[in-house]
Amino acid sequence: MEKSRRREKLAVSLLFGLLLPCCLAQTTPSNTATRTPTRTPTPSPSPQTERLRVRLSGYPRKHNEGRVELFYKGEWGTICDDDFAIANANVLCRQLGFVEATGWTHSAKYGKGQGKIWLDNVQCNGGERSIDSCKSRGWGNSDCTHDEDAGVVCKDERIPGFVESNVIDAQVDEKQIEEVRLRPVVTTARKKLPITEGVVEVKYKDGWAQICDLRWTIKNTHVICGMLGFPHERKVNKNFYKLYLERQKNHFHVHSVACAGTEIHLAACPLEFSKPNATSSCEGGMPAVVSCMPGPLFIQNNGLKKKPKISNNVRLKGGAKLGEGRVEVLKGNEWGTVCDDRWSLQSASVVCRELGFGSAKEALTGARMGQGIGPIYMNEVKCVGQERSIWNCPFKNITSEDCQHVEDAAVRCNVPYMGVEHSIRLAGGRTRYEGRLEVLSLDSNGTLSWGLICGETWNTREAMVACRQLGLGYANQGVQETWYWDSSNVTEMIMSGVKCTGNEMSLSQCQHHKTVSCQKAAAKFAAGVICSDTASDLVLNASLVQQTVYIEDRPLHMLYCAAEEDCLSKTAAQANWPYGHRRLLRFSSQIHNIGRADFKPKAGRHSWVWHACHGHYHSMDIFTHYDLLSGNGTKVAEGHKASFCLEDTDCQEGVSKRYECANFGNQGITVGCWDLYRHDIDCQWIDITDVKPGNYILQIVINPNYEVAESDFTNNCMKCNCKYDGHRIWLHNCHIGDAFSEEAERRFEKYPGQLNNQIPSINQQ
Ligand SMILES: *[C@@H]1O[C@H](CO)[C@@H](O)[C@H](O)[C@H]1NC(C)=O
Ligand SMILES: *[C@@H]1O[C@H](CO)[C@@H](O)[C@H](O)[C@H]1NC(C)=O
Ligand SMILES: *[C@@H]1O[C@H](CO)[C@@H](O)[C@H](O)[C@H]1NC(C)=O
Ligand SMILES: *[C@@H]1O[C@H](CO)[C@@H](O)[C@H](O)[C@H]1NC(C)=O
Ligand SMILES: *[C@@H]1O[C@H](CO)[C@@H](O)[C@H](O)[C@H]1NC(C)=O
Ligand SMILES: *[C@@H]1O[C@H](CO)[C@@H](O)[C@H](O)[C@H]1NC(C)=O
Repeated sequence: MEKSRRREKLAVSLLFGLLLPCCLAQTTPSNTATRTPTRTPTPSPSPQTERLRVRLSGYPRKHNEGRVELFYKGEWGTICDDDFAIANANVLCRQLGFVEATGWTHSAKYGKGQGKIWLDNVQCNGGERSIDSCKSRGWGNSDCTHDEDAGVVCKDERIPGFVESNVIDAQVDEKQIEEVRLRPVVTTARKKLPITEGVVEVKYKDGWAQICDLRWTIKNTHVICGMLGFPHERKVNKNFYKLYLERQKNHFHVHSVACAGTEIHLAACPLEFSKPNATSSCEGGMPAVVSCMPGPLFIQNNGLKKKPKISNNVRLKGGAKLGEGRVEVLKGNEWGTVCDDRWSLQSASVVCRELGFGSAKEALTGARMGQGIGPIYMNEVKCVGQERSIWNCPFKNITSEDCQHVEDAAVRCNVPYMGVEHSIRLAGGRTRYEGRLEVLSLDSNGTLSWGLICGETWNTREAMVACRQLGLGYANQGVQETWYWDSSNVTEMIMSGVKCTGNEMSLSQCQHHKTVSCQKAAAKFAAGVICSDTASDLVLNASLVQQTVYIEDRPLHMLYCAAEEDCLSKTAAQANWPYGHRRLLRFSSQIHNIGRADFKPKAGRHSWVWHACHGHYHSMDIFTHYDLLSGNGTKVAEGHKASFCLEDTDCQEGVSKRYECANFGNQGITVGCWDLYRHDIDCQWIDITDVKPGNYILQIVINPNYEVAESDFTNNCMKCNCKYDGHRIWLHNCHIGDAFSEEAERRFEKYPGQLNNQIPSINQQ
């Protein structure tokens, strides 16, 4: 089906504002809200109902096979293998996020479990959503022993978009030690966050207690610092604490901690527990005290001369929160991903620590932080846990059959507690994921109070920061009008002009006006957010652009429809219609949704625009920018602001299409699918009739005004070096904005400047 887009009147582009890592930031703020004042917010994701938690454990467990354990009534238990069948395994595998089961095991193949045998004689039909919907003898009713524990082998392919909230790693026994904290004894240290030094206290089921420091080693400290979000430890002045602690009444619960240093949780270290009330069990010792070294992101300005460095060849992408994301590594000049085979908490911890976080909370498999699009560099990474970088760990080079991006590895790291979530809150929304934003601030009388934010400058990127700060994940939407939410207890407007880049840890790091200045200061125009556990992520296939580029001199008589839709540059109006032609730079673009939620236009169907000439609806006013830039970044061809109809042209295996343009169909791009605009469809071009020969940069930006939320905007832009000799055109070095190393990107940017120099070698195909 044919698609086209509409070009808006070219606004003179002042390139002010923020420079995104990839592209020049677009200047036109989205004004959708003012055009459609009666728009109601799209429904937020329904809060997840409590689902049955399932995990794989035992040995030799892999991420997709193991003994099945269910969490019921606060306790993990197993399933007996009596009557077990592949249909049961299918239900369990899908619950774990895999597409299906390839087998199941009996007789405790992965070792015997402990505790309850929760289910017996389970007989599923195979289509159930959860194992507790299948027929069985009932919870806890079994005549089996753990010798009969059932296991499953799942097909190593994730359900696209599966949200991992019910699966946790079985490595840590949370019953022993639930939490660890540091209690500072120096009063001045108490106010400053993060807390990096103090007496170690562990929370176990009856309360908080200290650890006896007899036979304490630096390895124990390393584990504790990791749990608290710190990559390294420091030496403690023990004498200082000794004086102080001798005067305290101490309560010990744990002694003889013997960590190897590679554990991700204290509970994984060999421990001995004291008898109840044994206050004297630490004869000759004192409460363990540790001091940790925060990563660079968390060092407040404290005059530290030597800031620790973080790795520049590893990064996290696509995570909602600080310290989580898909693992990407730099090899040569290009970033690539890591395959999840044998991906472990130890390897994940190495990544976390080298990035300045603590140890890993979770090692995620199956592209649970979205898929990458570039090369896959590593497989079967097997870190011990002490390595300084993932590059120092044993791994296998990848061959193309080994792995696909659906297996991209990701991490969630422990990050230090900074308290940022307590200085903002949501009010008035229908669920805890949405509401008017309130910030805590000092009023003129010097008292702390909650107040609203002016909605005028409020958009997706500001909402991203707010949702991150609240710990609520990604932004689904930044809302500029909040009159439809409960307004019984609205507060005053105390902040305006908020502008964020989207990467900030908290709103306090964003710009805002010094004094409140808001044209519509009523509470109904206060800023709000709708947050979400998942988000889409669009990215363009750069190599396809490079492969399909060509020039066409298209006769004007074939361009009436295009002219009507503003797809030609201004000088076309002075042409002698229908005689003559326009010179068009044409290429195909294939836009993939590699995120974890479908990409849907922000505007509802009622506001879609009918394009009679091309015979379909446009759902987004501006979906992409096509530009040709000179060496200094100015546009040499009139920029196209293209709107499209959005649909699933095709999908990766196992994903079905859901969106299509025809017949006023639903528009969008499903996770795992792509929307292809072939080089030969109308308006899929840049009109270069007025462009002189030379070297340029071709730049394509998707969703340039951040109109629709995504998990990652740094990959929304694609750039190519472009050489035009007046007759032919060559593209080379086409790449996504965040794909190259900084150095390679600098070299790339220099290219147009070499206008009169020798032509660089061109990859001509
Ligand atoms: C521990 O102390 C509590 C009260 O402090 C007491 O009731 C209990 O009997 C003591 N237990 C033991 C084993 O001494
Ligand atoms: C991977 O391949 C590179 C060359 O591409 C080679 O230098 C390296 O030793 C290989 N690593 C492993 C672990 O096989
Ligand atoms: C400051 O205090 C005065 C007197 O108590 C009060 O009238 C005023 O409303 C207060 N201002 C704010 C912003 O709370
Ligand atoms: C408004 O404030 C009052 C008093 O603080 C409280 O009782 C009430 O529940 C609040 N209403 C809402 C909708 O939060
Ligand atoms: C991008 O396009 C190239 C060239 O047509 C193709 O080989 C490749 O599979 C595409 N990439 C993806 C991720 O679809
Ligand atoms: C940028 O370069 C173009 C020619 O490529 C020139 O016409 C223009 O004046 C330059 N602009 C600036 C701001 O240097």
